[in-house]
Amino acid sequence: MTGGTGGIGKATAIGLSTLGARVAITGRDEARARAAAGIARETGNSAVDVFAADMSSQAEVRRLAGELLAAYPRLDVLVNHVGGFWAHRHLTADGLEHTFALNHLAPFLLTNLLLDRLKQSTPARVVTVSSGAQAMGKIDFDDLMGEQKYSGQRAYNQSKLAKFVFTYELARRLDGTGVTATVLHPGVVRTAFGAEDSTAMMGALTFDRG
Ligand SMILES: NC(=O)c1ccc[n+]([C@@H]2O[C@H](COP(=O)([O-])OP(=O)(O)OC[C@H]3O[C@@H](n4cnc5c(N)ncnc54)[C@H](OP(=O)(O)O)[C@@H]3O)[C@@H](O)[C@H]2O)c1
Repeated sequence: MTGGTGGIGKATAIGLSTLGARVAITGRDEARARAAAGIARETGNSAVDVFAADMSSQAEVRRLAGELLAAYPRLDVLVNHVGGFWAHRHLTADGLEHTFALNHLAPFLLTNLLLDRLKQSTPARVVTVSSGAQAMGKIDFDDLMGEQKYSGQRAYNQSKLAKFVFTYELARRLDGTGVTATVLHPGVVRTAFGAEDSTAMMGALTFDRG
């Protein structure tokens, strides 16, 4: 699963690990990601592997996919968890708007790079974490990157709707293959969500300052 160093991802990793799964987590920073190997201590399941990648970069997503394919002859579940909210417009190393690149393009690319391995590992699943905010989303094909007009909420809603549309189409294409695709809203949870560049409202809703 992408993410897993904190927040909902770490709780999910702990849940899967407790069930006895071998879990691979990712984070941008290897030291921070390694700290999450505390998951193994907490659950008593030592099968927790850590991969470092900044998934806002498509080269990093490709490298991560290569490392995962080399490490695992089978993949039972891919959880696309990494995502976030940024109040201001930022650009990635690829020159893309950060919210769209990280929340939608990264899981889109990773899923496609891992899809053959998932199909060889049936029954398998792709689970993608979106948000109820998708219901307020509109995909602006004339301004996907928010160059003409940007608001953090608008970019977030759009990226989360894109994940929904992607998952529905993926599920349709995977019909009969033994791989399912599911998209979910995790609820409102107090995590580090949005902490890098927040608004007062987002902070009040979700920040884990503890
Ligand atoms: N919290 C909520 O109320 C809520 C509500 C609806 C949907 N969601 C969705 O749930 C997911 C976020 O969960 P969360 O609330 O647990 O947030 P979080 O605590 O901020 O966790 C975000 C995770 O993503 C990783 N991450 C962030 N930027 C990254 C990047 N550029 N490359 C690789 N990894 C990166 C972080 O790892 P490092 O910092 O270690 O790199 C961390 O593991 C998102 O998809 C979010 O949209 C959350």
